Amino acid sequence: MPGFSTRAIRAASRARPVAQRPTSVPIYQTATFSADSVDELAEAVAERDGGYAGYGYSRLGNPTVDALGDAVAELEDAEAGFALASGMAAIHAALLSVAGAGDRIVATRAVYGSTQSLLVRVLGRLGIRTDFVDVTDLGAVERALAAEPARVLYLETISNPTIVVADIGALATIAHRHGALVIVDSTFASPYLVQPLALGADLVVHSATKYLSGHSDVLAGVVVGGRDRVHAVRKLQVDTGATLAPIAAFLVLRGLPTLAIRMERHAATAASLASWLEGLYGVDRVFYPGLASHPQHAVATRQLRLPGGMLAVELTGGRGAGAAFVDALTIPERTASLGSIHTIVAHAASTTHRQLDATALAAAGISPGLLRISVGLEDTDDLRDDFAAALSVTRPAVGADGEAPRSPA
Ligand SMILES: Cc1ncc(COP(=O)(O)O)c(C=O)c1O
Repeated sequence: MPGFSTRAIRAASRARPVAQRPTSVPIYQTATFSADSVDELAEAVAERDGGYAGYGYSRLGNPTVDALGDAVAELEDAEAGFALASGMAAIHAALLSVAGAGDRIVATRAVYGSTQSLLVRVLGRLGIRTDFVDVTDLGAVERALAAEPARVLYLETISNPTIVVADIGALATIAHRHGALVIVDSTFASPYLVQPLALGADLVVHSATKYLSGHSDVLAGVVVGGRDRVHAVRKLQVDTGATLAPIAAFLVLRGLPTLAIRMERHAATAASLASWLEGLYGVDRVFYPGLASHPQHAVATRQLRLPGGMLAVELTGGRGAGAAFVDALTIPERTASLGSIHTIVAHAASTTHRQLDATALAAAGISPGLLRISVGLEDTDDLRDDFAAALSVTRPAVGADGEAPRSPA
């Protein structure tokens, strides 16, 4: 009889075969998958039909992680999807799957801080140049793409943190006319608000850390698009190693069934807060795609199922007022993420876009006091009361309920 350790290793590694289907996706917490022969293992890790034929090693593929890629692909109406370790891993792999040394990228100037840093500092060092452009100016985008060949036009459906809405259909038409691929970060929208592939995008990326998972408890990213393009992303991840853990994939999968209901509630509360905040004494500007005052309100109305759960505000008094407001809040979390059950109010210049210096902040359209609000699932009245109380601290001239003169003298 084999010794104790040999028996223990075998006994503890034997998974029971299951004939029935589990109703939630099992967490395949394993680095390796065994085959019965060398040939069978070689066959499992062989590339086939824009993927790998089977499973051998979890960096190449893992059933729980693949289930997440497949699920988001279905929601985005894509041929294929692949999940990675974070949103930034997804953006990095998507960009490097199509661009290399000597290539040029044209990117929206209203872009997430780490993406700006990836484009400028990381890809810049590899010989990939990025020019930033105001994507709400279609003429400027056309000129940027016509000036020199570009490999990629990089967009955010709704931008972080300035809530700029990109007209994906019009921009994709321009990009394709100039031979550029379109990559869209649709994190702020989620697949519930829009499917950018149907509007002409070539690849869509999500930070699944946000709405897809929805509970602030996991980091993950997803890329969806055509089968061959997504396989190129997977191969890049195989060689660079930003592999998603199976438990993380499970947590994102657990968020997907409630995505629609969460997005409906996020949007309803955001719309109510945005219209209440607009014009309130102490509030200079409110950026929310559902407001008629939003510069891309028409695009948002045409393109998005709902205006979403993200808004931005500029308070009278700039950075000092913004910081005092955030510090006075009692319900929202003081942190830097978004798309969660928790309402999160972030001061962009010091958190989400801390990588940008004053010039880069101005170029990205971010004022020093801009606050980004990710509206959570708390009760709307409670949030409104909390915001009103914080505003009264920020602007002592305002009545205690925050409902002071709507047109200040
Ligand atoms: C629009 C957007 N894209 C990408 C990311 C990066 O995602 P992650 O933190 O999952 O890497 C973020 C993170 O805040 C984001 O807001």
